Amino acid sequence: MIRFSIDGVELEAEDGANLLWTALENGFYIPHLCAVKGLVPPLATCRLCFVEIEGLANPVAACTRSVKEGMIVHLNTDRVKRIRKTAFEFLLSNHHLDCQHCAKNKNCELQNIAIKTGLKLKTSRIPSIPRNLPADISHPQFYYDPNKCVLCGKCVWICQKKGTGILDFANRGINTVVTTFTGMPLAETNCNSCLACVAICPVGALVAKPGILIEQARKEISSYI
Ligand code: FES
Repeated sequence: MIRFSIDGVELEAEDGANLLWTALENGFYIPHLCAVKGLVPPLATCRLCFVEIEGLANPVAACTRSVKEGMIVHLNTDRVKRIRKTAFEFLLSNHHLDCQHCAKNKNCELQNIAIKTGLKLKTSRIPSIPRNLPADISHPQFYYDPNKCVLCGKCVWICQKKGTGILDFANRGINTVVTTFTGMPLAETNCNSCLACVAICPVGALVAKPGILIEQARKEISSYI
């Protein structure tokens, strides 16, 4: 075991344990959207989990770091808050914000982050760039709305692990989307309907259709989130 501190609180952990998960397990909140437990290297796509570690010149993503003997971590410095706010606003800039009519309302990680950090669910400094892409409602058990996707990559990863690997990233920059091979409708792919992608999606992009239960899929992915 090694000793380190977060915001002045002395803690113990296994040497090399992941900083993000160790902090969360010890009751410290660090916003995160793309982290998956045990995934090495981490996806590190959301850029929300920045922290400062004494001795390092710049803030670092906690999901990419391991705890070390004597490490001193600060979660809420001005620099961390600035980076987090900017990353959150970028995420929101092309997220179709319509919480009232969203199936994930009150069960959405963006809302959770806003509540826990005090960040606003709107972009004040970054112009909104809506994707205006069609939703895929072809699958009998779930639908996919790319306009609400935050590109965390969890569905792509879990689809490769538990499903048939039909989801992947396509395009680049602001045109990046999660999609099927050649944009084929979900119903025409060889999706095995494991619903792991629906269970792991932190927002309202992948949502079960009415009457479809995802408890089993949730149980199966619970060790990763
Ligand atoms: Fe670390 Fe997303 S949780 S970059």
